[in-house]
Amino acid sequence: MRTETLQNKRVIKSKSNSSNIKNSVVEILPHLVKDIKLAKLGRDKIDISEREMPGLMLLRKKYSRTKPLKGFKLTGSLHMTIETAILIETLKDLGADVRWASCNIFSTQDEAAAAIAKTKTPVFAWKGETLKEYWDCTLQALTFNGNEGPNLIVDDGGDATLLIHKGYELENYFNKKKKLPKITATIEEEIVIEKLLRKVHKRNPNHWHNIVPDIIGVSEETTTGVARLQQMVDDASLLFPAFNVNDAATKSKFDNLYGCRESLADGIKRSTEIMLAGKTVVVCGYGDVGKGSAQSMKSYGCKVIVTEIDPICALQAAMEGFEVRKLEDVLERGNIFVTTTGNKDIITLKHMRKMKDQAIVCNIGHFDNEIQVDALNASNAKRDTIKPQLDRYTFKNGKQIFLLAEGRLVNLGCATGHASFVMSTSFSNQVLAQIFLAQNKPATGMYDLPRKLDEEVARIHLQHLDADLTRLSKEQADYIGVNVNGPFKKDEYRY
Ligand SMILES: NC(=O)c1ccc[n+]([C@@H]2O[C@H](COP(=O)([O-])OP(=O)(O)OC[C@H]3O[C@@H](n4cnc5c(N)ncnc54)[C@H](O)[C@@H]3O)[C@@H](O)[C@H]2O)c1
Repeated sequence: MRTETLQNKRVIKSKSNSSNIKNSVVEILPHLVKDIKLAKLGRDKIDISEREMPGLMLLRKKYSRTKPLKGFKLTGSLHMTIETAILIETLKDLGADVRWASCNIFSTQDEAAAAIAKTKTPVFAWKGETLKEYWDCTLQALTFNGNEGPNLIVDDGGDATLLIHKGYELENYFNKKKKLPKITATIEEEIVIEKLLRKVHKRNPNHWHNIVPDIIGVSEETTTGVARLQQMVDDASLLFPAFNVNDAATKSKFDNLYGCRESLADGIKRSTEIMLAGKTVVVCGYGDVGKGSAQSMKSYGCKVIVTEIDPICALQAAMEGFEVRKLEDVLERGNIFVTTTGNKDIITLKHMRKMKDQAIVCNIGHFDNEIQVDALNASNAKRDTIKPQLDRYTFKNGKQIFLLAEGRLVNLGCATGHASFVMSTSFSNQVLAQIFLAQNKPATGMYDLPRKLDEEVARIHLQHLDADLTRLSKEQADYIGVNVNGPFKKDEYRY
């Protein structure tokens, strides 16, 4: 796979405009994908999925004439799947000038990336990137001709936002101390980022300060990315406005829940081909993703055990009939362990050593640090790669465990992520957020989707499922104190 990528790079480099090289922090490439010949397969899949994405198709119809994103440079850092291809083409239809990278080294569908590259949209993504390649791709997506940055960002997990903020911070340090700080990071990915930023700094010591004033805002897709943004709001380090897409009801209560309810099993089964019925599955975390994951496993006939730190979520799990236990107490009972917390060090090396023979370990939360993969790799366990994204580790005592997708999101690493329909609800929110940012150019801070638009996203998708919505009478609306046309719930309602 690497060879094909490198060959591809060589071909593309020879076509690129060498006059850019001197001025830009990076050589601007038209695209980097695994194999452009996959474009036809990608296009066929896009055509099929468009029918399952009514929200995006309706937004295209509604806005493609007025083009509210015309004149805006837009960077995306979000899993480069078939559904994302349809999001990209919607953003382009609305007028945006788009550059795109994936937000995970394993989540790209190469046929989707090829189909997008074929339309001459710069996309930098393939399944199985190294960490260095991944961050180089993010920088490519963030760098437009003339060494300019984006006006708008679609982020998933916050990596594009992080690169900009870290670069900006490094320039501040240099401007103050007249030297760059030593790299003190010990985590491989952090070292890669630090090295990349030093390379950028060498080419242009003011690059990030130059591009930040033109950034109108970012719309963030997922829980973990929103948590990162919230920390920046709290410590007043956020450099531009952020739109919280995740917390729209039609995102987190659908994608995180119903999306994972189907795609978790898809990832586990495609990777291991295991029979789920009768197995004991331990789901760590019972938030939206945990609820979907637990329901999914239960529906296959698994015995599901939940671990939680939040008493409310733990009580919810107990009242759904799930056994609620501490992870330490069920290590020898579980056949499959799934982390869904968005937190770190949930499954440690010590835990994995104590699991029963042939246990399967995977994560569906955004980052791989939910499982101590680095510690596992550094341990005396022998690693055998059975196939890409399926590794078997044999401990000294002969006990074996399987790790899926190297601890990265199992549904995107071992399968193709959520199905199109639920991504239509998520991505409709993304498009509305981008239009909001472009039209309102709000002040730096965090913004939510108004409830009325959230309801509108749901309404569009209801039609597709042949569902009939009851209409309130004026008298009924007055009685419960709402407008007949909505919004029907207060902002704080939790669904
Ligand atoms: N793979 C996907 O397709 C996908 C989709 C949506 C979200 N996500 C990601 O999944 C993760 C979870 O998202 P969410 O929306 O469910 O978040 P959430 O906040 O609703 O749920 C996380 C839950 O984990 C619990 N938790 C935290 N630390 C714990 C610990 N040490 N042990 C047990 N439980 C613990 C929290 O109390 C919370 O209830 C995030 O990283 C998010 O970005 C992934």
